[in-house]
Amino acid sequence: MSISKSISHSMKSSSWIRAMFEEGEKMKKKHGPENILDFTLGNPITEPPKEFIEELTRLVSSDIKGMHRYMSNSGYEFVREEIADYCTKKSRLPFTKDHIIMTVGAAGGLNVVFKALLDPGNEVIVPNPYFVEFMFYIGNHGGVMKLVETKDDFHLDIASIEKAINKKTRAILINSPNNPTGVVYTEEELKELAWVLRKKRDKGQRIFLIADEAYRKLIYNGTVLPDVFNIYEDTIVVTCHSKDLGLAGERIGYIAASPSITNIKPLMDAMIFANRILGFINAPAIMQRVVGKFQNSSVDMMEYERRRDAIYAILVESGFEVIKPLGAFYIFPKSPIPDDIQFVRELQKHHILGVPGIGFGRAGHFRLAYCVEMDVIERSRKYFMELGGR
Ligand SMILES: Cc1ncc(COP(=O)(O)O)c(C=O)c1O
Repeated sequence: MSISKSISHSMKSSSWIRAMFEEGEKMKKKHGPENILDFTLGNPITEPPKEFIEELTRLVSSDIKGMHRYMSNSGYEFVREEIADYCTKKSRLPFTKDHIIMTVGAAGGLNVVFKALLDPGNEVIVPNPYFVEFMFYIGNHGGVMKLVETKDDFHLDIASIEKAINKKTRAILINSPNNPTGVVYTEEELKELAWVLRKKRDKGQRIFLIADEAYRKLIYNGTVLPDVFNIYEDTIVVTCHSKDLGLAGERIGYIAASPSITNIKPLMDAMIFANRILGFINAPAIMQRVVGKFQNSSVDMMEYERRRDAIYAILVESGFEVIKPLGAFYIFPKSPIPDDIQFVRELQKHHILGVPGIGFGRAGHFRLAYCVEMDVIERSRKYFMELGGR
């Protein structure tokens, strides 16, 4: 059967994460799942809060008429109002329901934003290393991903970003807390970025800041996530409850566009239309109803922070060069040998599954997703000690 050349190419160039996951599945069959220490997938392990399940149970058995029907492509009004209130409280900007679109997770939301913004050949700047799906989400809508290296500590290299901007630049896509590095961008660096973008706007080029905040509440040591809406006017935040409420399989998220965007109506209309024609139609109905009430809740972050502390301590003790993540549930150590693919194969010999850094655009590193049982982290200690950077 013949498939399109472009999808065939994308499939070939895609996802070390999936490849490693699938290899891991084979190893699990061969050696027994309990003998494989799998750090490949960012699949949240924490269960949604108890109150969330109670509310969901109540709703499912309620007799609200039309609860399972289509609604507006942007989502239920009352839910968008609840989310707008939350955004207003956080940012002190006047959000209304008209700044919010309910989406099929963050992935759906990003596709909607790009569909609405990009003409063929438009460029989107993405700091490297990056979440590999970004390449496809941008490419899906005719855009071109332009990677810009981050600094050694994975923070933004503003001068390089400025250099990468040209007439075709339509947006910059940032992801903080970051997958794969766990880095959280500081207010200062985001302000510097805003300064660069504003200079372009003053010369007549409008560049959108798209902030993927899928991990916004997964943040440690009292770190505060800077409020991007108060840093740059043309900002669109895309987020979800896949991680903070443990709902990855339920596919629920939203887009929040800044009230400071001038002439916002055509943009919102375009995104609502995109939500429809990309085939999402609307975000899952029952999930919308529940998440609106849980904007201030999250899974127990201490569970992730404990895991972050444990894996970081093991890696440091074993002699790996590694930056302590401040958010999300990934860690991105340096590979002790330059060839990260080779190193990941070495890990596999010890029944540890990770993903080579090249899969995220940065060779010489590897990613571990530490959203795993504590026992998996503890059992990995002796292997990391054997393999370590010392
Ligand atoms: C950086 C980033 N953005 C977006 C997503 C997709 O989130 P969702 O499952 O809500 O679509 C993920 C999922 O792992 C991610 O890591």
